[in-house]
Amino acid sequence: MNSTSASAAVTPQPLFITPPEVFSEFSHHHPSVARINNGGFGCCPSSLISSQRQIQLQWLRQPDEFFFNQLQPGMLRSRNVIKELINADHVDEVSIVDNASTAISIVLQHMAWGFAEGKFRSGDATVMFHCTYGAVKKSVEAYFVRAGGYVIEVPLPFPVNSDDEILQEFRQALEKAKQSGRSVRLAIIDHVTFMPTVVMPVKQLVSICREAGIDHIFIDAAHGIGCVDVDMKQIGADFYTKNLHKWLFCPPSAAFLYCRKSNEISALHHPVVTHQYGNGLATESSWIGTRDYSAQLVVPKVLEFVNRFEGGIDGIKRRNHDAVVGMGEMLGKAWGTHLGCPPHMCSSMVMVGLPACLQVSSDQDTLKLRTYLRDKFGVEVAIYYRPPKDGEVGPLTGYARISYQVYNKIKLLELDTDTEKLLLLLLLLWIIDITGKKYLSLLQPKATTLPLSH
Ligand SMILES: Cc1ncc(COP(=O)(O)O)c(C=O)c1O
Repeated sequence: MNSTSASAAVTPQPLFITPPEVFSEFSHHHPSVARINNGGFGCCPSSLISSQRQIQLQWLRQPDEFFFNQLQPGMLRSRNVIKELINADHVDEVSIVDNASTAISIVLQHMAWGFAEGKFRSGDATVMFHCTYGAVKKSVEAYFVRAGGYVIEVPLPFPVNSDDEILQEFRQALEKAKQSGRSVRLAIIDHVTFMPTVVMPVKQLVSICREAGIDHIFIDAAHGIGCVDVDMKQIGADFYTKNLHKWLFCPPSAAFLYCRKSNEISALHHPVVTHQYGNGLATESSWIGTRDYSAQLVVPKVLEFVNRFEGGIDGIKRRNHDAVVGMGEMLGKAWGTHLGCPPHMCSSMVMVGLPACLQVSSDQDTLKLRTYLRDKFGVEVAIYYRPPKDGEVGPLTGYARISYQVYNKIKLLELDTDTEKLLLLLLLLWIIDITGKKYLSLLQPKATTLPLSH
């Protein structure tokens, strides 16, 4: 035997995390709640909670030593991990912030200064889809509109059948702005929209913006890594933010803001001003006063965690996508409805039409149904109301947004699984609704105890 074959013979196979280990990592989850809403607040495994606790204790043990010797090198390590994950050019392009809301405030504050300093004129516009996250719209109002800016909202076709339908709406909106002589200074585009959830064709949207001469393109990817492919060089946006606590298992709160290297980067500032003001956004963001930085320092450990899964974060993303599409298709078949978009436009979340007879007819209805599912059945799932279009016949007005993350399981023959709980529950709601709208009083608190033949 030569030395090569000898070493090949003893090379250990990688040991991937086992299902019981996954279960144990998430054993702090409420045991009787089916969490099908990872898109809401994400999740954090117990090994990372322990790592975070270690960092907190190191800080509390000797804060001065930690501040002078460990905090900044630790933040730089986290930024380098992110830089590699997103294929950025330079670590200075990566700032760590608390969350996507902070990142959008940084960018919009910068845009507001553009008006104040005379770079933009009153009436210059930002373009965004109407389903832009509510807090982001508020940020636009607080900074951009208040400074004199105008907002162009583009309707997102939903249900949507292809990327082209989205691109066409976007092109039309920009064309209209051009014809009216309006300068568009900023585009805000979701990578994965929140509600209804769809993976957006970001690369093509960025190209359209560039062709139209828009020189500030911001991608809100609160749901990004761990859910879709994220490559800064391929996407080509100026700003890109991603929550690390949503699909990358980080404890809350941790996110990054990528700012492409340009002449403008030195003009961006964190809204919380400290001694670090003027030292570059990445440095400003890594000290915003005395607080807990442990969630942001734990990022390298997050990578160790995801690499325990076959294929690392890409493997997790692929399996989550396949599982959630499978769940969505199964539910759609059972309810006689459909997915809100084709599988290639789904991330680790899908929209599934709810049976029309549930008659979801307002945002208030969605909240009621969601609260009811949580309180009575321990099912945590987001519900969406889609207003019917004029003259539409038999429209689906209610959709469930279902997430899949590694802690979810589909075992078709056991009724305590997340998918089956939801399936049974909604089938029952449906059946009872048809027979007299009495479901509120008829259903029992535990979906698992309900017989199928109710
Ligand atoms: C698309 C989108 N943008 C921004 C946010 C805000 O994220 P955070 O609350 O972590 O700042 C969310 C949260 O769900 C989101 O879905």
